[in-house]
Amino acid sequence: MIDMHSHVLPGVDDGASDVEESLSMLTDSKKQGISIVVATPHCVVHDDDMILDSIKRRQEAYCSLNKKAEESNLKIPDIKLGFEVYLDVDVTLFTDFRKLCIEGTNCMLVELPYRIWTDMNLEFLKSLIDKGIKPIIAHVERYFVFKHNFEKILRVNDIVFQVNSDSFLSISSRRRIKKVLENVAICVAGSDMHNTETRKCSLGAAKKIAEEKFPEYADAVFHRNAWKILRAKK
Ligand SMILES: [Fe+2]
Repeated sequence: MIDMHSHVLPGVDDGASDVEESLSMLTDSKKQGISIVVATPHCVVHDDDMILDSIKRRQEAYCSLNKKAEESNLKIPDIKLGFEVYLDVDVTLFTDFRKLCIEGTNCMLVELPYRIWTDMNLEFLKSLIDKGIKPIIAHVERYFVFKHNFEKILRVNDIVFQVNSDSFLSISSRRRIKKVLENVAICVAGSDMHNTETRKCSLGAAKKIAEEKFPEYADAVFHRNAWKILRAKK
């Protein structure tokens, strides 16, 4: 499996607080059958400097994690670097916006505001698509509590939908997941793990439920689609 959404890097956002917690999260992921974790720290961008600063902080966290992982000899998944970009502006206005994509890809994990979306929110997405970026909408099912958001997002082409593994675990959120799976072209799963206690990785459990409840979609969502994204030529 590939985990397309995680807050596993130490000390950069509200995710792992230190390297020890990162390693604990990653060893748990490995045990659940995850071979690649995409590290996607929260990123708010309102100018070019904020992009460069986010990249610098992410790199420092990644290096400290890597060093400790090598010393400890623990079995952990490979890490790919990305961001969870809060899309409250048109990020293509900034010179280095392409650096916010998941490394080696033209895909960007984006978080939309938690409310009824306006045309402007959709314009920010279209602006990325016009510049050759494929947006991946983080935990898309979360926004469907707001009227018409689902219909609005279906009108945007060339996007990928990411669903959180926790949403497979309860009956009410599984209804929203079903709606996504039955209506969108490409869907991937992510843990959105933040720590080892209250928001940990549940991809392993979610995949088992998906195999039972949505057998025709499970392999694509937890495995195949993410591999295609990470392997696609830029
Ligand atoms: Fe997240």
